[in-house]
Amino acid sequence: MNRTFIIVKPDGVRRGLVGEVLNRFEQRGIVIVAAQLRTIETNTAKMHYAEHAEKPFFAGLVEFITSGPSLLAVLEGPQDTWKIVRTMIGATNPAESAPGTIRGDLAVEMGENIIHGSDSAESAQREIALFFPNQQ
Ligand code: RTP
Ligand code: MG
Repeated sequence: MNRTFIIVKPDGVRRGLVGEVLNRFEQRGIVIVAAQLRTIETNTAKMHYAEHAEKPFFAGLVEFITSGPSLLAVLEGPQDTWKIVRTMIGATNPAESAPGTIRGDLAVEMGENIIHGSDSAESAQREIALFFPNQQ
């Protein structure tokens, strides 16, 4: 089996979309193997988004992702789970995310795009280790 990591970001939790988002994955046949509602600590957020540390939007991104509870989850499927999940999430910019995707159906703002999903098998491994050290 093959695992990936998602965050229903604080905007998704505030809007009451946790069930909607998790339901889509469950209906697809992807299994939730760990989940936790947690306000992400600033240092953890900085490590999670370290690839963006030099970008102009980094400070705002860290502030946003730590602004309230998020739903963190490890998802499992037979293969290419990170890729299936990213396809279901849709493009980063909701102006470009296709209808039928989570962002394409539920989001209109780049900064508040509801969900994070690991962008490679390596990222999935790193992020699961960061947020769920006993679920690797
Ligand atoms: P995520 O990591 O949250 O799943 O999003 P992603 O892979 O689709 O996009 P990424 O490039 O990793 O960017 C992380 C988050 O930063 C915000 N962002 N703002 N203003 C900008 O140009 C900009 N670019 C990215 C977005 O909220 C994005 O989800
Ligand atoms: Mg990303």
